[in-house]
Amino acid sequence: MALPLASREHPGFFLTFEGLDGSGKTTQLLRLVTWLHAQGLEPVQTRQPGGTLTGDKIRALLLDSKSANLSPLTELAMMFADRAQSIQEVIAPALDSGKIVVCDRFTDSTEAYQGGGRQLGSEIVLDLHRLICGNLQPDLTILLLPNLQASLARARRRNHKHTASTGNDENRFEAETDPFFQRVYDQYRAIAAREPLRVVAIEGDHSIEVVEARIIQAVASRLVQANLIKSNS
Ligand code: TYD
Repeated sequence: MALPLASREHPGFFLTFEGLDGSGKTTQLLRLVTWLHAQGLEPVQTRQPGGTLTGDKIRALLLDSKSANLSPLTELAMMFADRAQSIQEVIAPALDSGKIVVCDRFTDSTEAYQGGGRQLGSEIVLDLHRLICGNLQPDLTILLLPNLQASLARARRRNHKHTASTGNDENRFEAETDPFFQRVYDQYRAIAAREPLRVVAIEGDHSIEVVEARIIQAVASRLVQANLIKSNS
């Protein structure tokens, strides 16, 4: 078994996207992936939970609103089971071969949702991250924090439409209360304050184009530093 990336170096670049449900994160991630392709790069795109065959099964269990009474610790353990599989199968091999990995959510989501939202606290999340994920850290995290109420309204509308058209129920988190999401939001802000070098937080409401431009600027400057693109591209 390949060891989790622990503190060892890898020649790739690990980029994560974070934010509340309905924050526009996935739209922005797709735009960035398009931009990376235009730079001649071939990013590996994945998401959590999910992104592997086993992970997709874990995702279905976690997000289905019929998974009633899932205890917060069960939920936490399942998020890390999914992540261990994703690192082993997708993320570590790609980083080891020098690729850029773009991941929709990573351990910051667990710290925000299970640590903050479910009130398990940060320590258990960070301890598990060290034990299970070899403390693998993103090289850069884009955190989108638009207005909380507007994000939630968007997420709830979107997921009900999705359920009606596909029959897949992914509404368990969206059914949570506003105070739950306020705690998630506050924990995300705490992570950004704690790790300002890794986390680029874009707060407030802006047009899709303005947010996209800010993301490209942040990513481009890090990729130049990492010698993955030239400074004028
Ligand atoms: P998803 O449909 O991917 O949400 P979005 O499109 O908004 O990113 O659903 C993922 C849900 O799982 C989301 O509500 C956040 C939650 N989640 C956690 O609670 N903990 C985690 O560690 C991860 C990765 C996700």
